[in-house]
Amino acid sequence: MSSVPTPARPRALSGAQPTADSYHLGNYFGAFKQWVALQEDFDAFYFIPDLHAITVEYDPALLRERTYVAAAQLLAAGVDPERSTLFVQSHVPEHAQLAWVLNGITGFGEAGRMTQFKDKTAKKGTEAASVGLFTYPILMAADILVYQADKVPVGEDQRQHVELTRNLAQRFNHRFGETFTVPEAHIVKATAKIYDLQEPTAKMSGSNASHAGVVDLNDSRKQVAKKIRSAVTDSGTEIAFDPVEKPGISNLLTIYAALTGRTIDSIVEEYAGQQYGHLKVALGDLVADFVGDFGDRTRELLGDRGELDRILAAGAEKARAVASTTLDLVYERSGFVKRG
Ligand code: TRP
Repeated sequence: MSSVPTPARPRALSGAQPTADSYHLGNYFGAFKQWVALQEDFDAFYFIPDLHAITVEYDPALLRERTYVAAAQLLAAGVDPERSTLFVQSHVPEHAQLAWVLNGITGFGEAGRMTQFKDKTAKKGTEAASVGLFTYPILMAADILVYQADKVPVGEDQRQHVELTRNLAQRFNHRFGETFTVPEAHIVKATAKIYDLQEPTAKMSGSNASHAGVVDLNDSRKQVAKKIRSAVTDSGTEIAFDPVEKPGISNLLTIYAALTGRTIDSIVEEYAGQQYGHLKVALGDLVADFVGDFGDRTRELLGDRGELDRILAAGAEKARAVASTTLDLVYERSGFVKRG
């Protein structure tokens, strides 16, 4: 029997859905910046979960374009395809193959307790939801387990899915013999949790109906400066960090600190006695520069689809080498006859 492969460096794995036309500033500070930092000490696998994106109604042409944009933006953010493995989920069929095996050891009730599914179906009811949306967390478990990942950097909203993944890994190992690494969630601490500029008590999210409060990473410099200037601020005039009483201005201070690497205190001190408008104009310029440069890099990458295809194909090849080793082991342990 083959043994469980052990990578030299611990392995990190994460993905971000290509469900909007662009990732946004919240994705960058809440996730990608950490992904890029993790490349130092981890054997990092980052991917675009296009199989997850088809669990809700969608447009195929749009999905294809969004997948390219997502890849270009991850590269622009600093994911280094030489050091890490960057790929598209559907290029590695082992994800779906392992998901099917995991379906067999997941309880219906267990899957039914996933709060994200409950939240996503709260409005229209489960009757309108796809079975794919229901089993989404099991595919996510397969994404993680097929690479024997140790760490999974995700936001708080994905904690329960990683917990399910751990349970499935342990269950499979217990029933069929040691096969999977039991992964740990690496919950990205909310040092730079960014909120919607128009509704600063709600997370900045690509699925928000209006993008007036969302700084998209493909916005023009002008659009960005305008969005920051038009950010909702709180009554009063004092620039102070108080997320409860002053969520709007606090959000702007958080963005300022995240962009400059400065402490919030030092920014508050600098703007003591000044008005909201001063902070907004200065921050508008800073964010416009950051997003503008980011957009330039992204557009350059998108301008050469052949090169993007090559990067993603190389990533998929590296990913498959690992994924197929795990799947072979899983099939053997599951009692499937080896193809002669
Ligand atoms: N469900 C994750 C999200 O919406 C995306 C995702 C899919 C993922 N598969 C994953 C994240 C595996 C981490 C690991 O954010």
